Amino acid sequence: MEVIIQPDPGSGSVLAAQIISNLLKRKPNAVLGLATGNTPLRLYKELIDMYKRGEIDFSRVTTFNLDEYVGLPCDHPASYNYFMYENFFKHVNIPKNQIHIPDGAVEDIPAFCLAYEQAIKDAGGIDLQLLGIGRDGHIGFNEPVSSLSSRTRIKTLMEQTLKDNETFFEREDHIPHHVITMGIGTVMESGSILLLAFGTGKAHSIAQTVEGPLTAMVPASILQLHPHAKIILDKDAATHLSRAAYYQTTYDGKPDWQKF
Ligand code: PGA
Repeated sequence: MEVIIQPDPGSGSVLAAQIISNLLKRKPNAVLGLATGNTPLRLYKELIDMYKRGEIDFSRVTTFNLDEYVGLPCDHPASYNYFMYENFFKHVNIPKNQIHIPDGAVEDIPAFCLAYEQAIKDAGGIDLQLLGIGRDGHIGFNEPVSSLSSRTRIKTLMEQTLKDNETFFEREDHIPHHVITMGIGTVMESGSILLLAFGTGKAHSIAQTVEGPLTAMVPASILQLHPHAKIILDKDAATHLSRAAYYQTTYDGKPDWQKF
C-alpha cells in the first residue's frame, strides 16, 4: 500500500488526475473503474479540464462504475447514472457504448449482476479502480461484514451510510436502502487501485484501513493485500495515522517518474 498525504483535497485530486492521465498515455484503451460521491468531484473536474486543454483523450477508454441505488431510474437526479453524466461523462469523449453503470431499475438483479461481471471480464478487466471510502470503511457499497471475496450483487445500506448520502436526495424523496455494488472480490481483481479520502470524517476509517488488522468489519482493509494500491489523503484524513511522517518522507524522496 502506498500512502500519499497531500496538503489539501485540491492537490490530492490533481495528483489523482495525473495518475489517470499517465495511465491513458501508456494505455489509451484502459478500462477505468469509477466511483461517485463527494470525494471524486474535484478529480472529475480536473480530468474535464485536462480533456478541454487537449491533454487527455478518452475516446478508447471503457468505464465501469462501482454501484447504483436499486429502484432509481437512470434519469433520477439522485441516481449514480445521473451523477456520472452530469459531473463527468457529458463533458468528455467516452463513447456511450463504452460506459457501464449498474442499472438500479432492472427486474432481474442477480442476472444483471452476473452480466456486469461478465462485461468486466470481456473488456479485459479493470486497469485502475477509483475508490472513495465510507466512514464505516466501506468501498463501493460493500458495508462491514461483506464477504471479502464478494462479487457484484445487491446489498443493504447501513444507517450511517444512509445518513451520509441523504444530502443527494430531495427532502420528499426516500433514499433507497438497497443498492447494486461491485463486490470486494471484483474490486480486488483490478490491476491497480486509487483510493481518495479527504477530511477528518474519514480519518478513523483510513487509520483502520492502512494500519489496522485486515477484517471484514473494515472492508477497505482488504486493500492491504492488493499489490498496487495507492491511498491519496489530505492532511485531515491522515490525522489518525501513526506512521504519517514515514509515508510523507517516503513519497517526498521518490523520483518524479515514481510519483505518478
Ligand atoms: P463520499 O462517499 O465521497 O461522498 O464521502 C464515499 C463513499 O461512501 O464511498
